[in-house]
Amino acid sequence: MRILFTGGSGKAGRHAVKYLTDLGHRVLNVDLTPLDMPGVENRIADIADAGQMFDVMNSYVGFDELEPGNGVPKFDAVVHFAAVPRILIASDNECFRVNVLGTYNVIDAAVKAGVQKIIFASSETTYGICFADGERKPEYLPIDEDHPTIPEDSYAMSKVANEVTAKSFQRRSGFDIYGLRINNVIEPHEYAENFPSYVENPKLRLRNIFAYIDARDLGHMVECCLNTDGLGYQIFNVSNDTLSVATPSGELLQNFYEGVPTTKDLGETETFYANDRAKERLGFQPKHNDWRSLL
Ligand SMILES: NC(=O)c1ccc[n+]([C@@H]2O[C@H](COP(=O)([O-])OP(=O)(O)OC[C@H]3O[C@@H](n4cnc5c(N)ncnc54)[C@H](O)[C@@H]3O)[C@@H](O)[C@H]2O)c1
Repeated sequence: MRILFTGGSGKAGRHAVKYLTDLGHRVLNVDLTPLDMPGVENRIADIADAGQMFDVMNSYVGFDELEPGNGVPKFDAVVHFAAVPRILIASDNECFRVNVLGTYNVIDAAVKAGVQKIIFASSETTYGICFADGERKPEYLPIDEDHPTIPEDSYAMSKVANEVTAKSFQRRSGFDIYGLRINNVIEPHEYAENFPSYVENPKLRLRNIFAYIDARDLGHMVECCLNTDGLGYQIFNVSNDTLSVATPSGELLQNFYEGVPTTKDLGETETFYANDRAKERLGFQPKHNDWRSLL
């Protein structure tokens, strides 16, 4: 496939871009900073600028595409990851502006260019727990995609707004637009670096609902979305199968979630961030669940 990928230079994006190029896809990375990766072309452009998004959406990827003399080919898919990725980087309103306007611009340009598969990064923060002022408990566990999304911070608000935007574009176009409520992204080197402290102090993971997503499995998730057509508008939690701490689930429930109902019997290491929908509808099957063997 010929894929336009926004935010491919970032923490999550560069793993997903590598995953896709390894599969043989051709990727144009649209970002404010280039990604130095063999086989990947870059276009420096700002998602918050509609003109630039319309331009890149109708752009050659590389010089070789001039050769056939048939004009600019159409992208088969857009994967939109570019964003201000949390609070406390830019001002709250700048985070909201870039993420909401940027996502509108990317999807608008993609739909008007006739790109029929659009995948965008939403976030676990939509559930309102990650960046809450003080502690907020989930209404039930495991958290699935039907759990209410009423966050109180500008970043998560922007992601909820993006989901509404995407749903509206899908209704008009009838294209496939899939939103990924990505849990905390873990790169391979982070297991040895960070997980010992999570084992020692599980509370460090409370705001992530004790879950995580391996960056390579996130690439696999994007692949699953590319391979599955015809689902219309979809929202998927994205997480690995296991908890990011060594404490058994029963003990975590007792220590951190008093009064929170569970909707199923949880296995000892089973994630509290349900990924069943992605498995059932897309065939998602994360591989990097056994971080214990790496410590
Ligand atoms: N990292 C996580 O744990 C996590 C969790 C949930 C959701 N997400 C979402 O996944 C996506 C990727 O996150 P990440 O951790 O890789 O973030 P990142 O900051 O590492 O990467 C984001 C990329 O977007 C680019 N970007 C920012 N503003 C831009 C603009 N105006 N125009 C063009 N490019 C711009 C940046 O240059 C950067 O390369 C984001 O949408 C983020 O909200 C991340």
